[in-house]
Amino acid sequence: MSEETKKLPGPRGGLILGSLNEIGPKAHVTWTKWSATYGPIFRVDLGPLGDSVVLSDYNVLKKAFEDNADVFSGRFVLPIVEKAGSHGTLSWEVGEIHEKRTRLTLAVLEKLDLNKLAQNEVEAFCDMLKERQDKSPSTLYEMIHESNMNMALAYTYQRGQRCQYDNEKFRQRMALMDNVSEARRNLIAENVNFFPFLWHIGCSKFRQVHDALRSNINQELSSRDPSIATVQDLMDGYLAKVDGIDFPAKDSIPHIINFIGASLSLKTAIQWLLLLITKHKDVQTKIQNEVTSVFGDEVPTMEGIDKVPYTSATIRETLRIACPAAQVVPHMTRADVKFEGYDIKNGTVVFGNIWGLHHDTKYWEEPETFNPDRFLNSKGKLDNIDEESYVPFGRGKRRCPGEDFSKRVMFLYITSIYQKFGFEEVEGHPLPDVDDGIIHGGRHKPPPYKVKIVPRSDGE
Ligand code: HEM
Repeated sequence: MSEETKKLPGPRGGLILGSLNEIGPKAHVTWTKWSATYGPIFRVDLGPLGDSVVLSDYNVLKKAFEDNADVFSGRFVLPIVEKAGSHGTLSWEVGEIHEKRTRLTLAVLEKLDLNKLAQNEVEAFCDMLKERQDKSPSTLYEMIHESNMNMALAYTYQRGQRCQYDNEKFRQRMALMDNVSEARRNLIAENVNFFPFLWHIGCSKFRQVHDALRSNINQELSSRDPSIATVQDLMDGYLAKVDGIDFPAKDSIPHIINFIGASLSLKTAIQWLLLLITKHKDVQTKIQNEVTSVFGDEVPTMEGIDKVPYTSATIRETLRIACPAAQVVPHMTRADVKFEGYDIKNGTVVFGNIWGLHHDTKYWEEPETFNPDRFLNSKGKLDNIDEESYVPFGRGKRRCPGEDFSKRVMFLYITSIYQKFGFEEVEGHPLPDVDDGIIHGGRHKPPPYKVKIVPRSDGE
């Protein structure tokens, strides 16, 4: 067959629904299975949305998202995102405006003292662990959620200030975000992506909670004086047009909602981390010993990040095996392209299967085994190469802008927590496995779990 006539392989879809029924709730697992039959790049019929392309191999994904970034860095704006009025935001914009606003957002984040904020938050989180250590089993899962939400609200529209966990304003804002997230769980809302008319039938609750959240952020926006002297959060940065980058004030509302939503991957990562470390007692003990030998009783700070290779390796291994983002946010081609010998049309939806890359036996020995040591060299040091087939934050122009911040926060949480505590499984509350992960809001989350908080005694 000549290159011109080469057609993308892929499963044959049914008449109306294409392959939608076969994909199931965990698309990343299905992509990985299909990749074994159809190869590193294949076609999937998404029914009403037509044919899409799945990239399920490191070299192919890198070639598309990095080497051909101009073509492959468009976005397929999910109909639910468009209906909710969130499409003109960092995750969904394309081209010049996307580049400009990403630059602006990163410049604003640079101005904020995020290390200090994270450190304060982690300290408060450890105090909460201490308070609740006698209440067994503890809802660690929900506590991580509260803590991360506190931080996200602080750097987006609370002037860099975290709140006490029982603060009324904090609880109200967290509830508004949670309501939006919960409303997406509704079966009808989930299917709006394939059948947009459902928006008018079963999404009134979704619209209501979105409006309530927007109005809360708008209240804050209206109270701000635009002649800002010091940028204290994202909202300030957008109003102050940092680095001379123009940004209409009203656009900051959906941007802030989008940014908080996107940042929740960090919460998911920490929930996976504490779960997997609790499930592997030997890993927990090694982390505790390392943290104690490096920091003693001193508060862990960012300066120590290179001194705890085993802890860092555990963070990397968790992002590999559990994949908080099991696939990239759907990309879309911005031009007709010949890629890997296949003709791909402008406007084709492209999925990047992060899960498939992280569980590829070509690159990972026993990929289903949780083993932080795989990231360490024979001297117990981190191999500081950019690992092949490892892309927890994506690649290329759409690579996660929260990557650096997330790495710092995970380091601070893990070192500070294990300096003082450990966790244990509680009888009657079995801990979930990676395979029990669920997809919600585009993230791969562990189901809720409970643990016993075990304070470390001196010398332990
Ligand atoms: C461990 C935590 C995190 C992981 C694993 C993660 C992973 C990802 C991935 C895989 C993407 C999609 C890349 C693509 O579509 O090609 C993404 C996009 C994004 N992430 Fe993260 N993320 C994390 C934390 C954060 C945080 C804390 C923030 C905000 C402070 C954030 C903000 C964003 C935004 C705004 C986008 C959209 C970027 C764009 O479309 O250009 N993420 N993230």
